[in-house]
Amino acid sequence: MERLQKILAQAGIASRRKCEELILAGKVEVNGETVTVLGTKADPEQDIITVEGKPIRNEKKIYIMMNKPKGVITSAKDPAGRKIVTDYIKGIKERIYPVGRLDYDTEGLLLLTNDGEFANMLTHPKHHVPKTYLATVEGIPHGTDLDKLRAGIQLEDGMTSPAEVEYKDIDIEKNEAVITITIHEGRNRQVRRMFDAISHKVIRLKRVSFGDLQLDNLKRGLYRHLTSNEVEALKNMAKTGKKRKK
Ligand code: URA
Repeated sequence: MERLQKILAQAGIASRRKCEELILAGKVEVNGETVTVLGTKADPEQDIITVEGKPIRNEKKIYIMMNKPKGVITSAKDPAGRKIVTDYIKGIKERIYPVGRLDYDTEGLLLLTNDGEFANMLTHPKHHVPKTYLATVEGIPHGTDLDKLRAGIQLEDGMTSPAEVEYKDIDIEKNEAVITITIHEGRNRQVRRMFDAISHKVIRLKRVSFGDLQLDNLKRGLYRHLTSNEVEALKNMAKTGKKRKK
């Protein structure tokens, strides 16, 4: 027996939090009875579980990483009709959705899945999966400014946790720098706001790694399936906060 919201998330219906909302909204039935109590348990092998009248299936789990181009929305739908990340994924019938978000103007490594538990584990604030970005910024930040980012900096929603920050490239003529920054949280527009706080506007932002996974030479707009080792490594990291030993 498992909690209903966990069964629904594992069946790829949505994230666990969204599944809880579906239960509370009276959209979930177990053996013909509407269930609105969140702790309710069911047996996914024996019970007939429906969402909005449709039986859930235990779908094959899909785990994809893509190189999101800038100018694309990290969302499963856009009412304004802009390009969305799933427009780039072809030939997959399962309903996959992004794990966390990248801003419209941010490019780079984005995970997509239909495994709600996996998405939940990797985006939950208590799990601290490291994410590395290359930030091209206006001006050349002073070392003491980078130290502030390393130590944690005050943003309007609180202090950031310590980040790893290094110069990657400095272009004196263009008056720009590329900084490698690894953060362990996932607040909204966090990297852009951290650089705003040291008065260096981000002009290009690219995520190059997520946990152990590296974007490497995956071309912009393309994607690949993760290997089972890569999926396991991400799950372990979310559980233990540790990277796989190389
Ligand atoms: N930080 C940002 O500012 N934007 C992103 O898309 C991701 C992290």
